Amino acid sequence: RADDSLRALGARQDLRIGTAVDDAHLGSDAAYTGIVADQFSVVTAENAMKWESVEPTRGSYDWAAADRLVRFAQQNDQSVRGHTLLWHNQLPSWLTTGVADGTIGTAELRDILRKHVTDEVTRYRGKIWQWDVANEVFANSWDPNPLPNGLNGDDFWIKNLGEGVIADVFRWAHQADPKALLFYNDYNIAGQDGSNAKFQAVHDFFAKLVAQGVPVNGIGEQGHLDTQYGFDAQRFQADLQSYGDLGLKVAVTEADVRTFVNNSTEQVPTSQLAAFAQPFEFSEMLKGCQLVRQCISFTAWGVYDGDSWIPGTFAGTGYGLLYDVAMKPKPAYYALQQDLALA
Ligand code: G3I
Repeated sequence: RADDSLRALGARQDLRIGTAVDDAHLGSDAAYTGIVADQFSVVTAENAMKWESVEPTRGSYDWAAADRLVRFAQQNDQSVRGHTLLWHNQLPSWLTTGVADGTIGTAELRDILRKHVTDEVTRYRGKIWQWDVANEVFANSWDPNPLPNGLNGDDFWIKNLGEGVIADVFRWAHQADPKALLFYNDYNIAGQDGSNAKFQAVHDFFAKLVAQGVPVNGIGEQGHLDTQYGFDAQRFQADLQSYGDLGLKVAVTEADVRTFVNNSTEQVPTSQLAAFAQPFEFSEMLKGCQLVRQCISFTAWGVYDGDSWIPGTFAGTGYGLLYDVAMKPKPAYYALQQDLALA
């Protein structure tokens, strides 16, 4: 393994560098698999540990893809971030349909969730470094029904089980694997311009949970940025530090910086903006993490531009990762490498 790989450079300062891994490429695509093994010291299943993947049919688990990733990580001396136990998205249809048509009531839903959390965390007990226990339950400025504490009143789990469910999933996960670091994971919760209300809500909510002794260990800022709106790098670092000051660990969990393929509203031509802004923003996010003692990992949300969620979700944008469509390292890769080398 090269001394100038991201993982080797990160190791010198006790910082793990990670990527989300797509099961469709792992093992079957040699170049992809080589990059994952050589460059990264922590891996996240992009989809394989989500509920719809592990329990597509009620009561019958399919752990195959998740197991493959955990085995790969062990063979390559990597840690695993488990992703994710409570989320409104990628739920199995038997669950959402049952709730919608009333055949699954509140008490049963709670039992089902508890079993899901317990079974999945137990299966990988001792093999997961950080679990994203709860994901994206806080309201954005554009969400119509925020609760007074900033939770999203329209979130599937909050709506059906009430806000106490957040503390409960952390307790259930902790019972199943007392050594795993239990994270809350969300986007736009560090370094946002304007009121930064989402950061404040998450900060205050978890300050309370920590004070109550709920077993939460960390906050993950996803780090989905773009080259047009950018972000406030100083505030990013300050916000990560504020989470750290609660006695929590911090991680950047899903970094990517999408560029605008065809956007006439941009002041600077896309190619130029992307060329400078993307490595800059990646670098500022990494540096924010490096400068916060409690920040323990920095993960990119995918390996290369040929395999990313971005164009499917934000039409007209893409090319947000560290490797290009030919799996060659991009300026953003070299920016991170340099930041790590200089630290
Ligand atoms: O598995 C099916 C496949 O059988 C089918 O042929 C194909 C056709 O579209 O779809 C496949 O499922 C897709 C799945 O990714 C696996 O590729 C889904 O349609 C697609 O919606 C799903 O997207 C994922 C997305 O979460 C869904 O919520 C992305 O890969 C994944 O990167 C993205 O990750 C999320 C994090 O978990 C949480 N934070 C935000 C982040 C980006 O949205």
